[in-house]
Amino acid sequence: MKVTTMLSSSSLLLFILLSSANPYARALQEGGNGIEEELEDVKRSDFPTGFLFGVATSSYQIEGAILEDGKSLSNWDVFVHKNGNVNNGDTGDIATDHYHRYLEDIETIHSLGVDAYRFSISWSRILPNGKLGGVNAAGIMFYSSIIDNLLLRGIQPFVTIHHWDIPQVLSDEYGGWLNPLIQDDFVHFAETCFKNFGDRVRYWVTINEPNLAADFAYERGKHPPGHCSPPFGNCSAGNSDTEPLIAMHNMLLAHAKASKLYREQFQPKQGGVIGIVVHAIMYEPFTDDEHDKEAVKRALANNVAWAFDPLVFGDYPPEMRRYHRNELPKFTPEERLLIRDSIDFLGLNHYATLYAKDCIRSSCASSDSACAPGGDRAICGFVCTIAERGGVLIGEPTGLPTFSVVPRGMEEIVDYVKNRYHNKPMFITENGYSTPPQQEQVDDFQLDVKRIAFHKAYLAFLARAMRNGADVRGYFVWTLMDDFEWSSGYDVKFGFYSVDRATLNRTPRSSAKWYRNFLRNISSDSMKPRTAVAFWSKVGRAEE
Ligand code: FCB
Repeated sequence: MKVTTMLSSSSLLLFILLSSANPYARALQEGGNGIEEELEDVKRSDFPTGFLFGVATSSYQIEGAILEDGKSLSNWDVFVHKNGNVNNGDTGDIATDHYHRYLEDIETIHSLGVDAYRFSISWSRILPNGKLGGVNAAGIMFYSSIIDNLLLRGIQPFVTIHHWDIPQVLSDEYGGWLNPLIQDDFVHFAETCFKNFGDRVRYWVTINEPNLAADFAYERGKHPPGHCSPPFGNCSAGNSDTEPLIAMHNMLLAHAKASKLYREQFQPKQGGVIGIVVHAIMYEPFTDDEHDKEAVKRALANNVAWAFDPLVFGDYPPEMRRYHRNELPKFTPEERLLIRDSIDFLGLNHYATLYAKDCIRSSCASSDSACAPGGDRAICGFVCTIAERGGVLIGEPTGLPTFSVVPRGMEEIVDYVKNRYHNKPMFITENGYSTPPQQEQVDDFQLDVKRIAFHKAYLAFLARAMRNGADVRGYFVWTLMDDFEWSSGYDVKFGFYSVDRATLNRTPRSSAKWYRNFLRNISSDSMKPRTAVAFWSKVGRAEE
């Protein structure tokens, strides 16, 4: 009989934790280090009452049902069917079939004991023409039923209006986010959501990661419409130096108009809050040189503040104005008034910390393979961002090349946002771990001790930032179950639940059981959070 069938899953987990072949066992045996001692064991009860713990998903990544019940094609539906755009030619046509299995999935979410569930609305499912008029009743019923079923189980819906999937018709008609016309169409979409769901939704996110969306769609050509220009890539159309700035400008104005509408017409009756979510990478200087420290400031401005500064202060970051010429769009005085203070909270998706290297005074030619392409250009803030130094990664690798495990980055990014935005309320709207494909042996696949250690370590640093005053209101794990991970397809797995691609059956990993216990304030295994922190910090430090 195999060892896996002889042992219960919890004793097997313990066995693996204590086996000397396992990195955690090494960490347990080797004892503490500085950081470990500073951090107390993190528990749910260390977070304030009302703090929302949740899981997050997005429509295109899980729903499938590509053309069912009146839904039209989205930009992603079309993009994935073009050769070479996605690993293995994977598509989201079926995804995890959440459209048909959502009740089962809500039961699963409920079984975790979360307070909230973050999901997004497929624009082309509720407005197949992209515009107001022709509301698809079946689409409205689908999301209404999700919301009702969550509330029945005491789970708060945390709704992202737009998570990257726009109706293809808007792309064909006027070029999607490159055209200011999309601003009003987005407002109509948002209004349709407020009208139909707002009586039951308290938390709204207008747009998921406008900064990453602009980069991937219009700078690197990795997301639809696949635009880019050299040195970022050889796409058939696009201008990587200017288009990301235009797309972001339209997304920010679309957000601000939707937010104004919500605040004037819905918020007084419905009483919810509205915010935006940014892809929030932390940066550390490549060397101790002052120029690299300046590069860190530019990288943060070029990434996080690019979206948040206009929405809080009414204009792009001064750092960006300094190094961009006329290509950085300008807000009119009316637009500044509109956009300023247009968020109730700041959403941070935090996955990665990278080194930042100055490219103003040093050479960062694109031929330097260590640097991501374009470091020597204004669109990248004249910063080369790199995940490694001297051939050594900044943290343990994961399933995505730039997402190394650096738990201290959570505290650092929260502190940065706290200080820059006067401690406006924040949510960690995504944080998660994907297994490196080569490590998907049986142990790592279901008994995912590294994912557990990841969350414990990141939560410990989040708790420390909060003890030091950061006003963070919630934490969402990415993600509930393995899903369609954009251009990586199904190869990259972030889920608490694995999904069998043939049967689409969901199976809990050890991390799902750990989260359930964490949320009940039960210590589920012998691995203390601080040991997890020690493990990850050891990985980062040992290699410096
Ligand atoms: C974020 C996206 C999310 C998911 C994670 C891994 O940037 O918001 O949809 O793909 O990365």
